[in-house]
Amino acid sequence: MSTIALDPAPTVTPARHAAVRLDRVTRDFGGGILGLDDVSVDFHAGTITALLGLSGSGKSTLLRHVNGLERPTRGSITVLDEDVATLRGGRLRALRREVGVIFQHFNLIGPMSVLENVCTGGLGSLRGPRLSLMMYPKDVRREALGRLERVGLADRAFQRADTLSGGQQQRVAIARALMQRPKVLLADEPVASLDPVSAQDVMALLREISAENDLTVITSLHQVQLAIDVADRIVGLRSGQVVLDESTSGVDAAEAAHIYSSVSGVEGAAAGTRR
Ligand SMILES: Nc1ncnc2c1ncn2[C@@H]1O[C@H](COP(=O)(O)OP(=O)(O)O)[C@@H](O)[C@H]1O
Ligand SMILES: [Mg+2]
Repeated sequence: MSTIALDPAPTVTPARHAAVRLDRVTRDFGGGILGLDDVSVDFHAGTITALLGLSGSGKSTLLRHVNGLERPTRGSITVLDEDVATLRGGRLRALRREVGVIFQHFNLIGPMSVLENVCTGGLGSLRGPRLSLMMYPKDVRREALGRLERVGLADRAFQRADTLSGGQQQRVAIARALMQRPKVLLADEPVASLDPVSAQDVMALLREISAENDLTVITSLHQVQLAIDVADRIVGLRSGQVVLDESTSGVDAAEAAHIYSSVSGVEGAAAGTRR
């Protein structure tokens, strides 16, 4: 009896499918301004990527292409297997329900309670506006309370949102975004209005939530050190171009200096730069 040697089953896991992919995206605003200039970049589930760059480098423009608020002049954007630039109407709204957004200024409704603000995040799947907390279905209120618990603010549920600190308000905004059960979370300068300690806390929370929910988090930041500490990956932008794309694991001082100079545009701005 002979045995036939079979090839062992392949053990290599396939490359992870990108949740968000920009392929040669250019956005020409006219007058010689390229918001994005031939940008190709992928973003993966369960990771947090920091977009770093000076003001005007294209960070917000990139984020706005992901949820279809901007349309590219050239190139394509694929989000959760959809070609965003071709989506209209109901299909665009459906995609936006899967893409949560948080903002620099939190955008909470100040006089409303914290819990009610979080409940509004579930509105995408509910019909019609709600005029008070009791008009939300009980399961929505229960879920909202769970989200608040996750961000450490369940004890503030019935407090007016505008009485919270900035860091707490951003945590509420994160809880609200989670109500739509997003697969992608965009955060445009989420900690730019916060003190350094609150900024670190909010970024750490975003990182945990991205890992727990297999969420693709893309956040613009301007603090290089915070990006190195918290993000899995850094994408550096300058004048609409990607000038840096690297993992943050094992970044040493020389590498950090290289990141600083790449995104600031000041060559050799810090000691130890590589170019
Ligand atoms: N709607 C617009 N019309 C014209 N120019 C714009 C528009 N939006 C952004 N820009 C320009 O595109 C460039 C990138 O802007 P932006 O993405 O807001 O940068 P960042 O978020 O990194 O500060 C800037 O030069 C900005 O002035
Ligand atoms: Mg911006």
